[in-house]
Amino acid sequence: MKLNKVKLGNQGLVIPNIGLGCMGMTGFGDADMYGKSDEKEAIATIHRSLELGGNFLDTADLYGPFKNEQLIAKAIDGNRDKYIIATKFGWEIDDNKQVTWRINGSKDYVKKSVERSLKNLKTDYIDLYYMHRLDKNIPIEETVGAMSDLVKEGKIGYIGLSEVSSETVKRANKVHPISAVQSEYSLFERTVEERGVIQTLNELEIGFVAYSPLGRGFLSGNIKTIDDIPENDFRRGIPRFQEAHFYKNIELVKAIETMAKEKEITPSQLALAWIISKGIIPIPGTKRRKYLEQNIEASTIILTDSDIQKLENIVPLGTDTGATYDEFGMGLLDY
Ligand SMILES: NC(=O)c1ccc[n+]([C@@H]2O[C@H](COP(=O)([O-])OP(=O)(O)OC[C@H]3O[C@@H](n4cnc5c(N)ncnc54)[C@H](OP(=O)(O)O)[C@@H]3O)[C@@H](O)[C@H]2O)c1
Repeated sequence: MKLNKVKLGNQGLVIPNIGLGCMGMTGFGDADMYGKSDEKEAIATIHRSLELGGNFLDTADLYGPFKNEQLIAKAIDGNRDKYIIATKFGWEIDDNKQVTWRINGSKDYVKKSVERSLKNLKTDYIDLYYMHRLDKNIPIEETVGAMSDLVKEGKIGYIGLSEVSSETVKRANKVHPISAVQSEYSLFERTVEERGVIQTLNELEIGFVAYSPLGRGFLSGNIKTIDDIPENDFRRGIPRFQEAHFYKNIELVKAIETMAKEKEITPSQLALAWIISKGIIPIPGTKRRKYLEQNIEASTIILTDSDIQKLENIVPLGTDTGATYDEFGMGLLDY
């Protein structure tokens, strides 16, 4: 299959129009992100993705911590140059590999983090390096200034930011051109659109990467009751998956499923094709080849204007599907 290639930002980065989110391939400490993962199948998924033209991988030092980058190193061994690797820093991880749950955007921490990620990924360059969250105690100019030094040193190719406001992007872009912003975006989560971030990115020619494009699996239609979410699963702590919102959201998923059935595609494919129709790059996360193949196929589905309208009537902009993080996590977003 030939995937469409697109420019991400205006600094020269070219990627396929869909990426592979790797976060769920490793757990977090003792907890699972989205159910049990199997290293062999995860690595096979990364290899299959490359075969299909899907060479844009998304990870972060936080995932594991470090285990995810290490898994990717194993998977891409001998083929580094064929992949485009995006990783992230900013959640502070101490020298004992403990996450402190503070955000650190200081110059020193940027420099320390990149060396650690390079080592864990077993590479001498990172294609796209994101600031995972804004450090509200450090001017963005300091953080991006340090990232700019890494570009000059050849340690990273391009600079990205995650979950930032229009104001922060504008300030950052004055220090060094930003190639991509990554934030949560799906039929269930359109805050960046409501806050004008997407418009700012278009004006500044910065690419937008949509994380959790399947609403962390909600939009796949595979989750029917709260009990379908394993006990030790990250989603149990997210209001969107809790009693107050869950059953309302399920009704929306059912309507999306009906529409997908009519089009003879899966609900996940419909949710991804909708994102791609907007010129946005989704990075659906999966740890199995079966889903990966379906997701990559979604990148070739073309929706008509009336399909898009129909979907947006099912979940209109502004629909309250519940918060995407607990209170602590919401407090770290820059909105
Ligand atoms: N910047 C940030 O702060 C941030 C935050 C969260 C995530 N991310 C990145 O974004 C990536 C994607 O987001 P995400 O993984 O959180 O959520 P997601 O892509 O919305 O959903 C992942 C879930 O959907 C399931 N799934 C995937 N494809 C499917 C298909 N075709 N049919 C049925 N189910 C399917 C996966 O199942 P299996 O796991 O069983 O395959 C997994 O449970 C992550 O991997 C990570 O790299 C970034």
